[in-house]
Amino acid sequence: MRSLVSLFWSLAALGTLVDAASIPRYFERQPRTRHNLDSALVQRELGELASDSIVIFGPGDDRYPEAIARWNMFAVPQIQVVVVPGEESDVSIIVKYCNENSIAFLAINGGHGNPNSLGTFNGIQIRMEALDNIDIQPDGKSAWFGGGARGGPVTKQLWDLGYVTTTGSCECVGLLGAGLGGGHGRHEGPYGMISDNIRQLNVVLGNGSAIRVNATSHSDLLWGMKGAGHNFGIVTSAELNIFPRGPDTWHYHNYLWRGDKLEAVFSALNDFHDKGNTPVNMTTNFGNFLVNASITTDEPIIWWTFAYRGTAAEANKHLARFDAIESAYEESGDIPYTLVAKAQQTAEDDFICLPGNIRITTTAGLQLYNITAERQIFDGFQRRITTEPELAVGCGILHEGYSTEAVGAQNPADSAYPFRADHHLMLFDAVVPPNNPALERAAWEWAKEVRDQWNGGQPTRPVNAYVNYANGFETLEEKYGHESWRLRRLRGLKAKYDRDNKFRYFNPIVGRRGH
Ligand SMILES: Cc1cc2nc3c(=O)[nH]c(=O)nc-3n(C[C@H](O)[C@H](O)[C@H](O)COP(=O)(O)OP(=O)(O)OC[C@H]3O[C@@H](n4cnc5c(N)ncnc54)[C@H](O)[C@@H]3O)c2cc1C
Ligand SMILES: *[C@@H]1O[C@H](CO)[C@@H](O)[C@H](O)[C@H]1NC(C)=O
Ligand SMILES: *[C@@H]1O[C@H](CO)[C@@H](O)[C@H](O)[C@H]1NC(C)=O
Ligand SMILES: *[C@@H]1O[C@H](CO)[C@@H](O)[C@H](O)[C@H]1NC(C)=O
Ligand SMILES: *[C@@H]1O[C@H](CO)[C@@H](O)[C@H](O)[C@H]1NC(C)=O
Ligand SMILES: *[C@@H]1O[C@H](CO)[C@@H](O)[C@H](O)[C@H]1NC(C)=O
Repeated sequence: MRSLVSLFWSLAALGTLVDAASIPRYFERQPRTRHNLDSALVQRELGELASDSIVIFGPGDDRYPEAIARWNMFAVPQIQVVVVPGEESDVSIIVKYCNENSIAFLAINGGHGNPNSLGTFNGIQIRMEALDNIDIQPDGKSAWFGGGARGGPVTKQLWDLGYVTTTGSCECVGLLGAGLGGGHGRHEGPYGMISDNIRQLNVVLGNGSAIRVNATSHSDLLWGMKGAGHNFGIVTSAELNIFPRGPDTWHYHNYLWRGDKLEAVFSALNDFHDKGNTPVNMTTNFGNFLVNASITTDEPIIWWTFAYRGTAAEANKHLARFDAIESAYEESGDIPYTLVAKAQQTAEDDFICLPGNIRITTTAGLQLYNITAERQIFDGFQRRITTEPELAVGCGILHEGYSTEAVGAQNPADSAYPFRADHHLMLFDAVVPPNNPALERAAWEWAKEVRDQWNGGQPTRPVNAYVNYANGFETLEEKYGHESWRLRRLRGLKAKYDRDNKFRYFNPIVGRRGH
């Protein structure tokens, strides 16, 4: 797999940056190569065109390492220059400048993008972080969010003003990075996915035109932005529904179980979720198979966390079946919503959010837990503790189970998000040390084994890969939906709104060569 990525990199170095065919002749000033972009030159030229608040720097700058840091170092985009737009209007100016100079561009916010296609990028990173403004509308039913808004700050700012909205569960993830691919989070049971709550978007297209996308303006594109949005444009701001914040405290309960409880735990989980009828306020639970050295290094353990939107008394009615399974450790409490991410180990400074590791991932979408398959997966982990201990210590096998009422209530045809029938989202995630091809091969073998066991546990269902969790090696149907009309419609939008295929780095619908 890695050699495939290296090949992409070589191709990128050779061809992506200078895509001569797409430059109108009259824009070509003097012939010059952009293989090694001169950041001082970009600073001068682009600085002159954009607002005073734009920030531009290259690899020599102190800010560069943090600006290009990313969660997964498996397939890293090559960033020659970092440009931080200070105003929404800068984005269109940047894109036009890039086009006139045959430079590829990529919007980046939380830096958690995962797919291998990101490794084909070589050019200017448009770092969205400064566009993080939140503007609550007078009726208190929606707010405009800048294209650089992130889950953690959005949650905290809204909560203090009495509101919540749909964000990802991890504080570090971009509101739009997640939302353009659907966006799972703690309010999806009550209110739907992030994409379900998008009212309108300000979008800069591949040719630099800034357009409004909503129910009456480019409504065809609104459909595509809700689930496949990374393919079509840069969102400079988005209007999303917001909601009264609800109960002052949420109840959380975390359990650690030893492997001998696996059958009891998954059987209880299936009863609890009741075939997609998870109690709506039992908003979020997820669990990991992992090694917890404070319990034992000889076997993986089952760690599970539940978050309930309401009191302990209400939550405990639903949790009784889990309390009945003897745990190795547990903790619980009542806390404001803003502290739930920390309690569930998904806060900005928690391990799951930390950048800089090479991670080998696979994903699957399930309706039920197949207990036979889960036992196979757990035993496979147990085996690796002996055969590949360095891999086992950095591996998490994540199982997510949100309440899904409002997700299921939407008509699946109304947006590009294709997987409303999946009730559970899985992620295999192994950290491998750098420059260790043997261990990386072993990680891939393990990653695929687990994915196949998940899918083998539901032999009559299609293989689905949530686009935001995809590693990029999946088929288009696996990422964008198996109904042939979906991909047809997405390709039509691509031809209409991004003919030159400028947005081809995040699970692209159309390959590098374009139409
Ligand atoms: C630790 C972790 C936790 C996660 N938790 C969740 C979760 O709770 N729920 C969930 O649904 N997903 C989750 N994900 C998956 C997440 O949705 C994707 O990784 C997503 O791509 C991250 O967006 P980002 O802005 O953080 O990353 P980036 O790498 O900055 O962005 C990813 C891609 O999104 C596009 N993009 C970003 N901003 C914009 C913009 N303003 N306009 C246009 N395009 C843009 C670009 O193509 C970019 O390559 C998680 C991932 C990780 C690694
Ligand atoms: C869509 O945007 C246009 C242009 O800004 C605006 O006139 C129209 O009212 C918007 N429609 C909706 C449904 O918000
Ligand atoms: C869920 O929580 C909301 C907010 O507290 C409450 O109004 C609603 O009745 C609860 N629903 C159920 C089914 O418990
Ligand atoms: C490991 O177990 C201890 C209890 O023994 C707990 O405090 C800690 O949170 C656990 N760590 C993880 C990552 O689950
Ligand atoms: C559960 O998984 C096993 C092993 O892959 C498979 O043989 C079985 O058919 C699955 N059960 C169901 C109900 O799908
Ligand atoms: C940019 O692309 C859009 C969508 O294809 C098109 O409508 C618009 O006219 C283009 N703008 C320019 C300046 O070419």
